[in-house]
Amino acid sequence: MNPLKVALLGCGTVGSAVLRLVEEQAADLTARVGRPVQVAGVAVRRPDRHPEVPAHLLTTDALGLVTRDDVDLVVEVIGGLEPARSLILAAIESGRSVVSANKALLAEDGVALHAAAAKAGVDLYYEAAVAGAIPLLRPLRESLAGDQIRRVVGIVNGTTNYILSRMAETGAGFSEALAEATELGYAEADPTADVDGFDAAAKGAILASLAFHSAVTAADVHREGISSVTATDVARAAEIGCTVKLLAICERVAGEDGDSVAVRVHPAMIPTAHPLAAVGGAFNAVFVEAEAAGQLMFYGQGAGGEPTASAVLGDLVAVARNRVAGAAGAGPSAYADLPARPIAET
Ligand code: HSE
Repeated sequence: MNPLKVALLGCGTVGSAVLRLVEEQAADLTARVGRPVQVAGVAVRRPDRHPEVPAHLLTTDALGLVTRDDVDLVVEVIGGLEPARSLILAAIESGRSVVSANKALLAEDGVALHAAAAKAGVDLYYEAAVAGAIPLLRPLRESLAGDQIRRVVGIVNGTTNYILSRMAETGAGFSEALAEATELGYAEADPTADVDGFDAAAKGAILASLAFHSAVTAADVHREGISSVTATDVARAAEIGCTVKLLAICERVAGEDGDSVAVRVHPAMIPTAHPLAAVGGAFNAVFVEAEAAGQLMFYGQGAGGEPTASAVLGDLVAVARNRVAGAAGAGPSAYADLPARPIAET
């Protein structure tokens, strides 16, 4: 059986876990896909920094790898807007399905990328872009596709959840809890994207786009981070039976001219009886309310190499199966159902 060949773009924490799991689970993947799945090459900026990767797989020519004749599928885990966008577009336009973990890119250019994938008749899957290991995007775009989703409320940033949880548990201030999160490796050296809510806003835009079949970008999201939350705020919230969490809130809003979508990210007090209040540490959870399904809760590890690689591999199996079947899977069929509300109106 001819193997399906995968180009892996990026080999950081997630990419190296993907590479290892593809190797370790080769027999199971073959059985689940119907053909062997092999990594054909790994594109990195500095090959000398990846002694763990067989040298013959490493290349600095990402575009050359993506468009190489023997490559069938592309996994992008480099993050950021460029060169990820150009590489993904090159892969799609040359007929390769793509798996990506890139929340910033999908939150900015999801519509254009999906349009390119639909035109080329290939798949674009990105389960790992929101809430790491938690199966969430496929349930929103497939399992709940026949329902009407009213709200999606999520703790989608593990770093800020860790910080707020520690503030509640120990009475620490924001800076002290942030220093602890940095020391444990949850927060980046530059934690701005996490603590100022940019990371959660990108994830909120992706969730809203899929939940409401709407074209929501990160720029449509009202955003407020947690750096001004004080130990006193957290203590006062506890006194009245509440917990402070950074929430991404995506809602269908009824209006005179029809429904629209409003998305906002901000610290919020939630009653301790609410299931989201019990989500501690760096965990993520997303609460969904739908007309027919009622209330659903998705919970698990939202970051880290192996949990994120689990979501990437799930997508890889899905796109590989579609490739073997000669079909493209269910992408968002329409981004036009509901308009995103301008930020000032949220
Ligand atoms: N910085 C992110 C978080 C990583 O803390 O949740 C996962 O997207």
